[in-house]
Amino acid sequence: MTQIIVLPHVELCPEGTVIEAAPGTSICDALLDNGIEIEHACEKSCACTTCHVIVREGFSSLAEAEEEEEDLLDKAWGLEPQSRLSCQAEVGDVALVVEIPRYTINMAREGKH
Ligand code: FES
Repeated sequence: MTQIIVLPHVELCPEGTVIEAAPGTSICDALLDNGIEIEHACEKSCACTTCHVIVREGFSSLAEAEEEEEDLLDKAWGLEPQSRLSCQAEVGDVALVVEIPRYTINMAREGKH
């Protein structure tokens, strides 16, 4: 199992947490399996950006993003060089530190910030 440190997110996990996932699991599934209800508006089919996460550590251990993912990421709220769509990024065997951005594009549009 690979460790994932999830940094605090105001609503989804206010204190932050540490979870474990089997290599090959998507980061999105790993979060959901552990009760962290990250948005996944397109049901993990790489068609939205609501599952955006920033991989603060361990980013280079992940398989590179496909073009489709990169194109979508360009539209994500708070894009950073270590951004990934969590439904597309599979956990490897290196521990990760993951940050869930404060907003998704859905929330930003609704003006909740
Ligand atoms: S859930 Fe839509 S791209 Fe990941």
